[in-house]
Amino acid sequence: MWPNFKKVEKLQVNRVTRRHLDWKRLVRSIGTMRHFHKGRCMFMFMLCVPTGLFIAYIGPLSLRFLEGLIPMDVCPLPQGTKLQGIDSSVALWSRTDVQTCTSWGAPILWEGMFNPTIYDQEHRERGTSVALTVFAVGRYLDAYLWEFLTSAELHFMVGLPVTYYVFTDAPERVPTIMLKPGRTLKVIKVERHARWQDISMMRMRTIADTIESHIRHENQYVFCFDVDQVFVGRFGSEALGDLVVLLHAFYYHRPKIMYTYDRNPRSAAYMTEGDFYYHAAVFGGSWQSVRNMTEACYHSIMKDKMNQVEARWHDESHLNKYLWIHKPSKVLSPEYCWASFIGFRSDIHVVRLLWAEKHYSKLRD
Ligand SMILES: *[C@@H]1O[C@H](CO)[C@@H](O)[C@H](O)[C@H]1NC(C)=O
Repeated sequence: MWPNFKKVEKLQVNRVTRRHLDWKRLVRSIGTMRHFHKGRCMFMFMLCVPTGLFIAYIGPLSLRFLEGLIPMDVCPLPQGTKLQGIDSSVALWSRTDVQTCTSWGAPILWEGMFNPTIYDQEHRERGTSVALTVFAVGRYLDAYLWEFLTSAELHFMVGLPVTYYVFTDAPERVPTIMLKPGRTLKVIKVERHARWQDISMMRMRTIADTIESHIRHENQYVFCFDVDQVFVGRFGSEALGDLVVLLHAFYYHRPKIMYTYDRNPRSAAYMTEGDFYYHAAVFGGSWQSVRNMTEACYHSIMKDKMNQVEARWHDESHLNKYLWIHKPSKVLSPEYCWASFIGFRSDIHVVRLLWAEKHYSKLRD
């Protein structure tokens, strides 16, 4: 009844050798796998490095390109609605690839929506004159002012009287520009703040003061510009309106959740939702509206200073907050301040103003 011990032993040996054999086979196959693996790694490495470099190089570009495919909202006005007053000639449905009006019915101006001749004629008849303010403090003056002003002579409100207000800490270094008839340039000395953020924020106060002291007596409209830009196409009377602001070229296709509003509840610029992300590099309107806006922004900035907070994007954050409460009457498309490094966008048919190349490390110290 007992099993044959010899048989059992043999069986066990057999099992052990078989296991041993299996193990050997396994080792061998792992060996070949390792060999294969090594080759694959080399291959992957040779493939991945250039691909990685390629993605690192074009990644931001292609991301911007893909972002450009996200459709904008649609103008909610019923088809055929005409705008009031001087904007009645605007063809809101001549562009279907972009948003041509805001939810409150203000036009968003794109190439192809307006007839420049109609605007120019109307404003000449009204005797419109425009003030342009620009700050050229520290090294910004030598780096940008000459090109900014020379290009403005070629493209900004051509045919209308224009008064340039150049604010600078070094009036003696303001270049002499040949101005067309009807156009004048005034230089106003301002103090130089140590930090560029302060220069940028304090300009709100300076603009409000200058509107009160000078501009309101001479010009119906005022436009405020950053100096590190160049006019490259018509920036004409179609842009005039009561309160005019610009869609930021980075954000006009982005989901709202990505807008970089100020999210700090301690700041006066704090906001949780908004309509658009506006760019502080260009804003304008009637002197009354621009005075009100710059004054309000200045007060918000001072409130923040008292509370020792600074809004995320400085004066731009305060501007966005103001415009959430006071809706602009006209919005300019990113044609009116384009950045060429964004790359190709099929909805940008003309470029009117271009960000100049920035040399922050040289300029902001
Ligand atoms: C500017 O502010 C004043 C005072 O708050 C107000 O009466 C006026 O209507 C405002 N004007 C514009 C154009 O916003």
